[in-house]
Amino acid sequence: MALNLCYHVRLVVVRTFSTVEHSMRWSRPRKLLVTLLLCSATTFFSSMTGMGQATVKKENFGKTASGQSIDLFTLTNAHGLEARIMNYGGIVVSLRVPDRNGHLDDIVLGFDSADGYATTSKYFGALIGRYANRIGKGAFTLNGLEYKLAINNGENHLHGGINGFHQVIWHARPFDSPAGAALELTYLSPDGEEGYPGNLSVKIVYTLTKNNELKIEYSATTDKDTVVNLTHHSYFNLAGQGRGDILKHDLMINAARFTPVDAGSIPTGELRSVKGTPFDFTSPTAIGSRIDQDDEQLKFGHGYDHNWVLDGKIGALRKAATVREPTTGRVMEVWTTEPGIQLYSGNFLNGSKIGKDGKPYQLHYAFCLETQHYPDSPNKPDFPTTTLKAGARHRTTTIYRFSTSKN
Ligand code: BGC
Repeated sequence: MALNLCYHVRLVVVRTFSTVEHSMRWSRPRKLLVTLLLCSATTFFSSMTGMGQATVKKENFGKTASGQSIDLFTLTNAHGLEARIMNYGGIVVSLRVPDRNGHLDDIVLGFDSADGYATTSKYFGALIGRYANRIGKGAFTLNGLEYKLAINNGENHLHGGINGFHQVIWHARPFDSPAGAALELTYLSPDGEEGYPGNLSVKIVYTLTKNNELKIEYSATTDKDTVVNLTHHSYFNLAGQGRGDILKHDLMINAARFTPVDAGSIPTGELRSVKGTPFDFTSPTAIGSRIDQDDEQLKFGHGYDHNWVLDGKIGALRKAATVREPTTGRVMEVWTTEPGIQLYSGNFLNGSKIGKDGKPYQLHYAFCLETQHYPDSPNKPDFPTTTLKAGARHRTTTIYRFSTSKN
């Protein structure tokens, strides 16, 4: 944008000089200096007035039940990719990416209006916090004090509770970053919200990059020691939303171990090798090829609903997973700094939810790959810690990268 403006400024300067040239003789260095000065002034002016935000479009997307107005932001890149994100729940409402023939399609499940999201408990496309995934019996002890959280999943706490981050209104600021069109979302979660200690100040930046990625940068600070684990909950179907199940998608997860769970989906604490189990995705394997095997873990999850222990160094941005859809050739890589990733194979979709374009969302019509810390970490001292100390900053990055394959 700024470069573009500079180009126009240069044109104006050149034209002006050519008309005054006869009366005044300007030296080349002087012309250059004037151009540079005008360019800096224009760039400064454009950043002050927000003119640099042109690649993000903002529109109204209805109201919440309590009457707050909801905004929808459309981020696009030069390759035609488009992400529509609302300030309600930080929800990715649609994500259009090309197939191997350049045909764009929406690859995330969701609803035509904001109401659809408010009336489902399935976290479609949303930002999840303060603690993504489950905390056993909805309780944990920190610094000798026991904290009791909202119970909303059997006897457990799931995805931040009843009024988690998936349904708050975030303060939204669209901007053009050097990497691409971006949307900053901020939210101050008050001390005690859903039972968590500390005022937690959260900032999420979504960027639709020039390299066909949806990049999500998470950061948070607190004024009291607390726990935090943030994720994003898009339901993906790389064939296009509503276009059948995802059982033939090939998946590779860079993980030699996973965290087995009990019947309530709380990790037992063991880090189990995937070798010889239906949890081995170390080489590309169709999601559905072993999903119906007689396996206790698959029964507990009603399919895949488990956390994998990602290989590599926690905190380093590394490839966690690759998914390929054979008919369209769409490929999605997931990169993250997080220690774990949850594969959820849409086990609780049953056709009762009618999604975008009137599509009923049936069993396994989508998969989620939620980058995260391991579930129930606040009660598992051997798991990587999710404690955020007062004054410290929590910072993680996850990237969903899109490309295509010939086969
Ligand atoms: C959980 C599932 C849950 C789903 C809801 C997933 O992250 O692991 O158990 O049913 O979210 O959308």
